[in-house]
Amino acid sequence: ATPLVKVGGLADVAGELPRALARYGVDVQLALPFYPGLKAELAGLRPLATVEVPRPDGVQTATVHALEVDGRRVWLIGGEPIDAAPAVYGAPEQDAAKFTFFGIGALQACRSLGWEPEVVHAHDWHAAPSLAWMRTASFGWDRTPALLTVHNLPYMGAGGEAALAEYGLRPADDPHLPDWARRLPLPLGMSHADWITTVSPSYAGEIQTPAFGCGLEAFLASRAGRLRGILNGIDPRVWNPGADAAPERRYATDSLEDRLTNKTALQRIFGWPEHGRTPLLAMITRLDVQKGVDLALDALEALQDVRWQFILLGRGDPAVEAQAEAFAAAHRDRAAFIPQFDPFLSRRLYAGADMLLVPSRYEPCGLAQMMGLRYGAVPVVRATGGLRDT
Ligand code: GLC
Repeated sequence: ATPLVKVGGLADVAGELPRALARYGVDVQLALPFYPGLKAELAGLRPLATVEVPRPDGVQTATVHALEVDGRRVWLIGGEPIDAAPAVYGAPEQDAAKFTFFGIGALQACRSLGWEPEVVHAHDWHAAPSLAWMRTASFGWDRTPALLTVHNLPYMGAGGEAALAEYGLRPADDPHLPDWARRLPLPLGMSHADWITTVSPSYAGEIQTPAFGCGLEAFLASRAGRLRGILNGIDPRVWNPGADAAPERRYATDSLEDRLTNKTALQRIFGWPEHGRTPLLAMITRLDVQKGVDLALDALEALQDVRWQFILLGRGDPAVEAQAEAFAAAHRDRAAFIPQFDPFLSRRLYAGADMLLVPSRYEPCGLAQMMGLRYGAVPVVRATGGLRDT
């Protein structure tokens, strides 16, 4: 959850949604794992409480820290399984253990601090086991509505089967779930959720079909009455070209001609001709097969006789990075690849590029295109999922 820890789009949503809900008067308490990296940054913070995380083979202890971030309260759940993993996302078995521990610890923290929520909202496979635990571990919140938001269906927590058993969670018994899915964190959590949401309406429909359902389409279709897409948003104050310090020049939505200064600045940085009429294309993304970086590179390769300049910003899958590297080397006079996660440069790109390419193979929602729209970089997208809806 931004601004504390960010790996992908989930962080923007988890960080900004509580603030948006607070404006409607909802009292949201956000729980996050107390990752080793965060712990190092917040070294002075004192624990508020310790709680027990029961397992069939004994009891683990979780610590609860709390802090205010932009007027919202965030609980940080710490403990041995979280300390044992250096990165936010790592080895599947280790991740399943630490996130299951986290989810149970977060529920125990609510109980121990006397805060009983009217809705428990879990995001993705990582928090999904907490819903199963809330329903089955004689915790007592049998009627508390459980909501699970799916940000990316293929990530089901594979490899997490043993960890669930270690925390005493039984396989799902929903007859619509295939056997292989019953012991996985995401399907298990979905089977216990009262409502399932996805991050766009189109994706909610798509995952009920074989092309996007990852083998769970029959189960998801059986839940159609309690499966909704709710489109993500971005915070217009956080994404505001009129008040952004990163671009060369700030501009309002009624002075788009000022963007030319930002485009020229980018062309200068990369040593390219400063042509106003050569389209400057940008792509800002995790380099994942999902995101279709290869599709964009192949398409540009085919556009030899057309003028374009292209900047790709992001890192990820080594094979995709290597392809991008080779592409940039072959087109130095008009293509650049910056293998970094660089929020500052990304804002300069939104503020200066003419078009933003988002050719994802599938896209539960996607946030870059909304940032592009807000900054006047016209999104050129594949008509899928949230890209279609936005
Ligand atoms: C995941 C999805 C992306 C979505 C984001 C936030 O990263 O792949 O489409 O925008 O979560 O919901």
